Amino acid sequence: MLKKIDLTDKRAVITGAGGGIGRAIALRLAEAGMKLALVGRDAAKLMRTAALTGRPLDMLVLPADLTTPRGMDDVLRILEGHFKGLDVLVNNAGMALNCAFEETTLEAFDQIMAINVRAPFELTRRCLPLLRTSDMATVINIGSVVSHKGYDHQAAYAASKHALLGLTKALAKEVAPEGIRVHMLSPGGVYTDMVKIARPDLSPEGMIAPEEVAEYAAFLLEHRGNAVVDEIQIHRVGKEPFL
Ligand SMILES: NC(=O)c1ccc[n+]([C@@H]2O[C@H](COP(=O)([O-])OP(=O)(O)OC[C@H]3O[C@@H](n4cnc5c(N)ncnc54)[C@H](OP(=O)(O)O)[C@@H]3O)[C@@H](O)[C@H]2O)c1
Repeated sequence: MLKKIDLTDKRAVITGAGGGIGRAIALRLAEAGMKLALVGRDAAKLMRTAALTGRPLDMLVLPADLTTPRGMDDVLRILEGHFKGLDVLVNNAGMALNCAFEETTLEAFDQIMAINVRAPFELTRRCLPLLRTSDMATVINIGSVVSHKGYDHQAAYAASKHALLGLTKALAKEVAPEGIRVHMLSPGGVYTDMVKIARPDLSPEGMIAPEEVAEYAAFLLEHRGNAVVDEIQIHRVGKEPFL
């Protein structure tokens, strides 16, 4: 019988934890007994997530814009002071953009790359010394089916998610000898605010629930044998994936 890893009191940082997939992951990992640092721009949304865990005192609420040096510095300073180490980093914060190629401005392109790729790169780079203190150091990056495919009006988003996949693969190889695991979860359409804004034409019917994605994140953490999972691609039943 395979033994599941006990996550009680393990420490995780989850970015974009104020809603959608990030909140679902936070609730699932809190249920498993983990202590969490919840990062996002909107403090009220993060506090709501902390309250929903039922253990708000075990949760660090870290409002920060991860695309700014100040936001990144604040998160690191508080993490180093409070957690004094780290077991899990979930790079989930991100944005989508549904825009024709020629109408996508350089500014919009830079903005999406800043949160979807540059922030995970910088946060992971700076968290690695903390992760090295853990016996189950794990990074989970939230990609997308768009890490592999291209859809019209999504060039900037696809570029950012392809880049995140490349980063994930290279880092996974680089830190594997140290026992640090780096995974990607790549979902299709998940019913969150992002989809409601980017694709208002879609109905929730048949879409993936954020809680389903959270379950795969928990699976990666709770199963740490000799088999390593690189990436889990999560597609909608019977649908051509789109986002
Ligand atoms: N929904 C889908 O269909 C789908 C499919 C595949 C992959 N994904 C990916 O899943 C991840 C989560 O998306 P979601 O669907 O849950 O959307 P969401 O509800 O819009 O969540 C995105 C989160 O990212 C945070 N965020 C955005 N910019 C930030 C910044 N500059 N600094 C800090 N936090 C920032 C937001 O926090 P604030 O609200 O506080 O700003 C928000 O909590 C994203 O990486 C997305 O690309 C989503």
